[in-house]
Amino acid sequence: MDVISVITAKRDRRELTDDQIDWVIDAYTRGVVADEQMSALAMAILLNGMNLREIGRWTDAMIRSGVRMDFAALGTPTADKHSTGGVGDKITLPLAPLVAACGAAVPQLSGRGLGHTGGTLDKLESIPGWRALLSNDEMMDVLRQSGAVICAAGDGLAPADKKLYALRDVTGTVEAIPLIASSIMSKKIAEGTGALVLDVKVGSGAFMKNLADAQELARTMVGLGRGAGVNTVALLTDMSTPLGLTAGNALEVRESIEVLAGGGPADVVELTIALAREMLAAAGVRGKDPADALKDGSAMDHWRRLIAAQGGDVDAPLPVAREQHVIPAPASGVLTALDAYAVGVCAWRLGAGRARKEDPVQAGAGVEMHAKPGDVVTAGQPLLTLHTDTPERFEYAIEALADGVEVAPLGTEYTRTPLVLDRIG
Ligand code: URA
Repeated sequence: MDVISVITAKRDRRELTDDQIDWVIDAYTRGVVADEQMSALAMAILLNGMNLREIGRWTDAMIRSGVRMDFAALGTPTADKHSTGGVGDKITLPLAPLVAACGAAVPQLSGRGLGHTGGTLDKLESIPGWRALLSNDEMMDVLRQSGAVICAAGDGLAPADKKLYALRDVTGTVEAIPLIASSIMSKKIAEGTGALVLDVKVGSGAFMKNLADAQELARTMVGLGRGAGVNTVALLTDMSTPLGLTAGNALEVRESIEVLAGGGPADVVELTIALAREMLAAAGVRGKDPADALKDGSAMDHWRRLIAAQGGDVDAPLPVAREQHVIPAPASGVLTALDAYAVGVCAWRLGAGRARKEDPVQAGAGVEMHAKPGDVVTAGQPLLTLHTDTPERFEYAIEALADGVEVAPLGTEYTRTPLVLDRIG
């Protein structure tokens, strides 16, 4: 087999054979196929697509490039959730202990933020002492102690994807449905969860800007999961405006704790409960109703155990950025837009996110929102508070908001976009 024939087959819109796919993934993982050759193939796939057989085989080959985890020894049904990424998407934080409190075990392998979207591990690392890197034995211990674990994927899990995702990130080949679907599902299937709920984000702050693309991605991922024996469903959810009232690491932890204490913003509570119900149903667990577990303190109890089991000091104060800057409402009226992408870029520029994988993030940086689309605002009232340790970034961060905020005259009709747009599964 040679790599040029694989690249030219896809360039010329031919189907790749199973042998070609197995060979190219294995050879790339071993360093026999060079990055420039794999990026040419990724671009050919982005332009010419793959059919379901090819995507399934590609996913399987990436799973076989590493180890598969197995939680059968726990003796409890397992359920995981994966979000395709958004702004203010802190849902994993309240969701994992909530589902654990309702009777399913949650082995949640999470990632870091890149670009304008935040990452669960960066958020949790703002809790003093909390550790994202666990050995497989530690992961099992935390799961046994608290019913949930949230940690980074070890190097042995789908190493082909790790290498390919980093390459796609710098070659303009991220936004290809076959490559996104196989990347996400190879990790989730190798992780060994019994049930999986996908939160496929749609809108300006998401990879998928329109519903039709998001539906195609969701159908592809649900098909891959089910084909591999993982009971998979997908919710398609709105990402035209940030989730909740915060975007930034420690700010989002604070908001998640409010949800676990029975309060918090209505949209975060609604989505957390909707995803928890789906996870419990997919895992076949008929425990408590998640809405009750948020009210009776049992979800909070699992959160405290989970954070402590991973070295975190649950009672320590969360980091606060050194400087704040308040942006007032530009006029009185109805807030008709608070764009997710604009807020995400603003938070990122304040220091909440990173431009390159190896960059550090500021724990306290981010954006606090004082109104949601549809709310009535008065000229001059605080609309957003920006937080950073590096105030020289304020001006650059504010520029990101230029077209992201719209206030229409009082009396303007505003229809809120439903949070859950579709369900596939
Ligand atoms: N998340 C992943 O893990 N992979 C992708 O390709 C896109 C988002």
